[in-house]
Amino acid sequence: MDTPNPTDHPNPTDRANPTAPPHPTEHTTASDAATATHAVAAQLIEQSLGHLYSAALRTAALLHLADHLAGGPRTAAELAQLTGTDAVFLRRCLRYLAGRGVFSEDGNAAFHLTPAAQFLRTGVPGSLRDAVLMLTDDIFVRSSAALDETVRTGAPAFPKVFGAPFFEYLKDHSATRALFDTGMAAFSEPVDDLVAGAYPFPGEGTVVDVGGGRGGLLRHVLLRHPGLSGVLFDQEPALRDHVLDTAELAGRWRTEPGDFFAAVPDGGDVYLLKHVLHDWEDEAAVRILRSCRRGLAPGGKVLVIDSVPAPGNAPHPGRALDVAMMTLVTGKERGPKELDDLFARSGLRRTRILPTPTFASIVEAEAAPE
Ligand SMILES: C[S@@+](CC[C@H](N)C(=O)[O-])C[C@H]1O[C@@H](n2cnc3c(N)ncnc32)[C@H](O)[C@@H]1O
Repeated sequence: MDTPNPTDHPNPTDRANPTAPPHPTEHTTASDAATATHAVAAQLIEQSLGHLYSAALRTAALLHLADHLAGGPRTAAELAQLTGTDAVFLRRCLRYLAGRGVFSEDGNAAFHLTPAAQFLRTGVPGSLRDAVLMLTDDIFVRSSAALDETVRTGAPAFPKVFGAPFFEYLKDHSATRALFDTGMAAFSEPVDDLVAGAYPFPGEGTVVDVGGGRGGLLRHVLLRHPGLSGVLFDQEPALRDHVLDTAELAGRWRTEPGDFFAAVPDGGDVYLLKHVLHDWEDEAAVRILRSCRRGLAPGGKVLVIDSVPAPGNAPHPGRALDVAMMTLVTGKERGPKELDDLFARSGLRRTRILPTPTFASIVEAEAAPE
């Protein structure tokens, strides 16, 4: 049986603790409206502390807590010994995460993996640990801390904070470059096969993954379509640890380093642009699309794979990504009309939008009639 420390429990009548649940007796005195108002206020306070959740996830990832629990539950004291940390502080952090469904504590004060915590393990299929380490790194955190400045000026904070535009900075900082490439690969891994399965690729021909990073999407496309061959195109450092070199794909791919503003490999039947256009403002996005247009084989298609947020107030992961783009780079998540404008300026026209089981959609375009 759990013997919780009495100090673990918030005092429900302590108004200095606005996140405390209302005490049962309060229901008899407080009106329903006041209770509802309080719940909204408490939620806003909790959300204002969202950076702590991000920091706690980062701590769990850095300390490999999920890996240490892979063999079975352990107490905070055991985990502290394994990670060289303070047991009391570690338990407090773990309990915070458990309140969000990442780890769970049992009656013997031992912590277990939960489905969410499984994703923090290293080296398991679908691991998101590298994505968490990227998304909670200083490159994201310090840029988003200056969001007010970004909104005032209409310019991303990243260049001001780090001294160079995002992709220029990566050129000169190899450790951050590797963090970004492994992070993007992990971020994309859970969606790559779902995206590959959501589009009717032709039976044969060449697929060019433009700004394809380590090539996760191209790999899944080629695995699903044995008649296709692929070209993975990106800046040279991104290609170094690509994922195409497997027996199943032997002889069906090549990598090509280059600058998509100058040109992309010629003769592609399908050009993939996944999470690429959203990095760039309109003028730059048009240059990338024009490069693809110049390369297109007759009858070829360009697939823009990004989140296309729907109108309305429903939450959509694309909205957070959109704000992240605002702080880091000059791009944004675009709706169909905005993409149509880019296509029109690039000699392309939209043919259809295909949903995927992920938050990203596939926007297909082809050469516009001359
Ligand atoms: C956000 S990542 C997307 C990676 C991959 N498509 C994915 O979905 O995981 C953007 C990619 O664009 C590449 N990139 C940036 N500038 C480039 C340029 N001028 N030429 C070619 N690739 C570039 C980056 O190296 C990076 O791999």
